[in-house]
Amino acid sequence: MLEKKIVKVGFVGAGWMGSVQMKRIVDHPDAEIVALFETNTQRGEEVLESLGLSKDLLVDSFDKIINNPDVDAVWLVSPNSFHGPQSIAALEAGKHVFCEKPCATKFDDFCRQIQLAEEKPELKTFVDYLINFDTMEHNLKNMIKAGDFGKITQIQINYRHPVNIAGDKVWKLSREIMGDAIGMGIIHSLSTMVTLMSPQAKPVGVYATNLESQVRGFEVEPIYNILIKFDNGATGFCFGNIDSSNGYDAYHNISGTEGGFIFDSQTDRTHKVRYYSNKTTDGKWIWPLDREKCKSEGVEELCWPDDTTTPDSGNVVEHQTDRCVAHFIECVKDNKRSFLDFRHSSIVAEIGWAAQISAATGKEVALPLDKAEAKKFFDAQ
Ligand SMILES: NC(=O)c1ccc[n+]([C@@H]2O[C@H](COP(=O)([O-])OP(=O)(O)OC[C@H]3O[C@@H](n4cnc5c(N)ncnc54)[C@H](O)[C@@H]3O)[C@@H](O)[C@H]2O)c1
Repeated sequence: MLEKKIVKVGFVGAGWMGSVQMKRIVDHPDAEIVALFETNTQRGEEVLESLGLSKDLLVDSFDKIINNPDVDAVWLVSPNSFHGPQSIAALEAGKHVFCEKPCATKFDDFCRQIQLAEEKPELKTFVDYLINFDTMEHNLKNMIKAGDFGKITQIQINYRHPVNIAGDKVWKLSREIMGDAIGMGIIHSLSTMVTLMSPQAKPVGVYATNLESQVRGFEVEPIYNILIKFDNGATGFCFGNIDSSNGYDAYHNISGTEGGFIFDSQTDRTHKVRYYSNKTTDGKWIWPLDREKCKSEGVEELCWPDDTTTPDSGNVVEHQTDRCVAHFIECVKDNKRSFLDFRHSSIVAEIGWAAQISAATGKEVALPLDKAEAKKFFDAQ
């Protein structure tokens, strides 16, 4: 009988997000946590215990994760500044890598990650741009792909969410540890935008402005306005703000030659989504999360299932972590590249680097990035 392949995970960082992902791994039939590195020993032991795992899984150095021959995949949910160095060390040690966003806070680390991923294609990598796993995004992507909205000419996706800095998450105010505000959260909307526009169009330029902290004492500029030029002539726009917002604003507003789509994360469920398409709704707006309205307007077949998920919560417990965890485990087990692996998703990180350069220089930055020029810019920071 063939032995069932279990993906053995060396987990790093059992904090707010880490503990939720550890639970998802424990619940997954094809994965197992074989070691945990968590600098706060007491927390590490408590999380292991709460999941019914042995406290002996806790190790006292990151090296003991990457040098453990039992570990297939290193799972990084440590604070941002560790993602680059830890993922590089893990790839060098021959491990698959699940990496929380941002993939790196230093431009040199980002370049090295891509280089290693290219040199070692047998190792699977992943950056956790989680919004991609909401079923609403999946439905929207399918509609765009089917041409329901025609050629997309304008796409806005916001990310306004006062990121959690409570208690020991205060490191998120620090430039050194957090990196920049785009990587801290705004990058979610950039990733979603790139996924939705692909393969119709790809980004070719970025112009951005930013603003210093107004409310909560971030060392970096937590407010960004990012304009993206696509090669089909479309423009993407993101209002990003991790400093202040009333709730979680991942507003989408997409306009194409044959239709349009609007998602308002901050209103009641039945009104959150509306769209029209000359091809599928006869040009009339419909509300696919409102079953009664769909019924009364004779479009019940276009109504979305009740379990459709939408990106409208900043609480990691409500995020689609079960789906992203299952996706990465499947990639490792089935030897498949993720659509969010280091190489595929590098354009998203590039938009982030380009937006920082643009905001500082006041100029548009072309994509793909001129890496030598970008390196000069970041070396001088
Ligand atoms: N994809 C998402 O939607 C999402 C949501 C929340 C957080 N995150 C990401 O998850 C990561 C963790 O965020 P959080 O909110 O859980 O923070 P957190 O502070 O609650 O957790 C971080 C944990 O890492 C531990 N740690 C510190 N230094 C370490 C090191 N060198 N090696 C290993 N562990 C170390 C800390 O003790 C802490 O327990 C961040 O990178 C954040 O961007 C992603």
